[in-house]
Amino acid sequence: MTAYLLKGVSVVGGSPTDLIIRDGVISSDRSGALEEIDAAGLVALPGLVDLHTHLREPGREDAETVETGSRAAALGGYTAVCAMANTSPVADTAGVVEQVWRLGREAGLVDVQPIGAVTVGLAGKQLAELGAMATSAANVRIFSDDGFCVADPRLMRRALEYVKAFDGIIAQHAEEPRLTEGAQMHEGEVSTRLGLTGWPAVAEEAIIARDVLLAEHVGSRLHVCHVSTAGSVEVLRQAKARGVLVTAEVTPHHLLLTDELAASYDPVFKVNPPLRTAGDVAALREALVEGVIDVVATDHAPHAVEDKECEWAYARPGMLGLETALSIVLSVLGDRWDLIADRMSRTPARIARLAGHGTDLAVGSPANLTLVDPSARRVVDPAELASRSRNTPYSGTTLPGRIVATFLRGEPTVLDGKAVK
Ligand code: DOR
Ligand code: ZN
Repeated sequence: MTAYLLKGVSVVGGSPTDLIIRDGVISSDRSGALEEIDAAGLVALPGLVDLHTHLREPGREDAETVETGSRAAALGGYTAVCAMANTSPVADTAGVVEQVWRLGREAGLVDVQPIGAVTVGLAGKQLAELGAMATSAANVRIFSDDGFCVADPRLMRRALEYVKAFDGIIAQHAEEPRLTEGAQMHEGEVSTRLGLTGWPAVAEEAIIARDVLLAEHVGSRLHVCHVSTAGSVEVLRQAKARGVLVTAEVTPHHLLLTDELAASYDPVFKVNPPLRTAGDVAALREALVEGVIDVVATDHAPHAVEDKECEWAYARPGMLGLETALSIVLSVLGDRWDLIADRMSRTPARIARLAGHGTDLAVGSPANLTLVDPSARRVVDPAELASRSRNTPYSGTTLPGRIVATFLRGEPTVLDGKAVK
């Protein structure tokens, strides 16, 4: 196993130092041959952890596979991703989550932690075999029907009760389905102007309010996926002040883009929950800095060309995220490295209970890390992405920062900005 010396690296924004990677861990042993990497001006972060990735395998390997999504993740600076359950077949049995977990191990580019479905077939009628998924080789701890909301309050209560026994967590896609029937974009001035059916903020806020009360009642852990409105932030703020065991994520796109983009009728901007207003964006940024929103999660949602390059109404919601997330967060937060390490690595690793991830880069720690060049700029070219899909909303835009290298347990998965395998 090659040993590496990262010369003059800034660890999470600190003053330049040398970091040695040997036998899978951060080491202080300078003996023997060391492969030197000139890391002057580069920042080392604990490997990024994504709580919300759609890898599409099994079922839509034309849009993404565990391998292509893993490569996109490594190139984005990630060392672990949680794979959403809305595959085909749905990841609602021990068999399917074990399959995804095994494919992740075979690809060997990031740790792929499967998320299990809450209900059979994501149909919202009957609890899936949560216990069997938890005790499977995939060791599932997060359950989600993402793509759909667990709308039935009785089922949601049962799910929260069930996972409490093994310290599991229910990750909710908060969308009251009766309030979003036929919705095409955020309900507001722009939807009125365009004549498109709106997705009101209250459809998200009502479910979060209900679910924090259920989580409080049961004493179980709730995670809220892709929070998108200022009102949701207020509900979360109050719940956290009361000590409810709730965590929340925001996506890079909800931190940057607004509903005005729907006026282009370019379906690349169609996403669920939809892009909101500038006021919502400002509230989300503030909540992320404060910690009312705990983490940035990508909601990386690859879609095949025919599902995206069509009329707005027929296009699937979702956009790519893994290969641009850190750049977007850098452009939003600036070089607040400790905050970035917290919201993109330490806290998501803790929420998902991923041992060996999100740990400080101290001697003896697992060498899961990424090297960032904050001064680099790049123009996003969809054809150059490792994802099998092309639906990035940042095509042609110039973004700050570049991932130079990523290490998973001491082995490079990315070197010189290129995937190693
Ligand atoms: O935009 C979205 N795309 N939101 C979701 O909840 C699901 C996701 C997908 O699977 O494409
Ligand atoms: Zn979702």
